[in-house]
Amino acid sequence: MNTLIDPFHRTIDYLRLSVTDRCDFRCLYCMSEQMTFLPKKELLTLEELDRLCSTFIGLGVKKLRITGGEPLVRREIMTFFRAMSRHLESGALNELTLTTNGSQLERFAGDLADAGVRRINISLDTLDEEKFAHITRWGRLPQVMRGIDAAQKAGLRIKINTVALKGFNEDELFTLTEWCASRDIDLTFIEVMPMGDLEEDRLDQYWPLSDLRSRIEERYTVTPLAERTGGPARYMRLEETGQKVGLITPLTHNFCESCNRVRVTCTGEIYTCLGQEGKSDLRKPLRASEEDAHLEDAIRAAIALKPKGHDFDYSRQTEGGKMTRHMSHTGG
Ligand code: GTP
Ligand code: 5AD
Ligand code: SF4
Repeated sequence: MNTLIDPFHRTIDYLRLSVTDRCDFRCLYCMSEQMTFLPKKELLTLEELDRLCSTFIGLGVKKLRITGGEPLVRREIMTFFRAMSRHLESGALNELTLTTNGSQLERFAGDLADAGVRRINISLDTLDEEKFAHITRWGRLPQVMRGIDAAQKAGLRIKINTVALKGFNEDELFTLTEWCASRDIDLTFIEVMPMGDLEEDRLDQYWPLSDLRSRIEERYTVTPLAERTGGPARYMRLEETGQKVGLITPLTHNFCESCNRVRVTCTGEIYTCLGQEGKSDLRKPLRASEEDAHLEDAIRAAIALKPKGHDFDYSRQTEGGKMTRHMSHTGG
């Protein structure tokens, strides 16, 4: 059986594929208002993305998450999802999923379910319409809410990703948990990571989840859960509501020792760690030969360079040590 193992004996079975760097929102902590996007001709075609993913799956990838920018703004993306569903049907892939801002879900939820998607992650940082328009710069909350309704109607299990932002959504902690509980939606909070040059000051935004957790514990009886979904979140159950809440804590509790994933961008670059600049090119080997062996070698060579962990550190933000790459480049 084929398996991808990195230098620290971690099995890599989770691929996050960014199919576009574009997004219809400009979240303040994610993108600057004037983003320059890649020319469309730079992107791998859907056929190339298919071949790339299929090669990873042949090498032992079991979980495929489609990301962006916003993956559902890529043209003909449903053709790609439908093509990937063959790997679910054959049993080669355990999970096909996506992380989305929800803006296009009203249109696509049914098609995603038909393609074998069962569980999706939706980014949502506030339940207040005005605050939503502010944080996304121009997004409309009702559109996302209609998307969430459509996804639930289509039978998709939903996890909401909320970036914990000081002074922005601290006051909505319980509104968000209660809203998710009432709709049987899972919820995960994320510490804001210092990525990309932005107009905002990161430290002004950073709300450590150790503090968020203490606030939750003051209100609820919390049971830590051992279960993992193959992602970085650690989960707890709030006994009073029965719901599951996850915490993704790259800053306060590094989870790199159990890392199982790599990221590929829409131009075919492979990043073996979200929080490091190291990357390798897969486009050249992909285009150089119809033979997959060449590409397989390039994937193995890239994984042999996977670092031990990320390097996020707010203390380096003023020392020229910050990461200029935006989250949208690698899809988180
Ligand atoms: P599931 O556990 O399958 O639900 O998904 P996930 O948490 O792996 O994926 P999702 O796209 O929902 O990611 C949520 C957040 O976690 C995003 O902000 C990602 O940037 C962040 N994240 C995912 N993987 C990593 C990682 O390897 N390192 C760091 N530092 N952050 C990550
Ligand atoms: N830190 C943490 N999460 C971020 N996201 C985007 N930028 C950042 C950042 N700097 C989140 C989005 C989405 C996921 C893909 O990444 O809100 O949930
Ligand atoms: Fe778009 Fe997601 Fe970035 Fe917001 S966080 S700008 S929705 S890619």
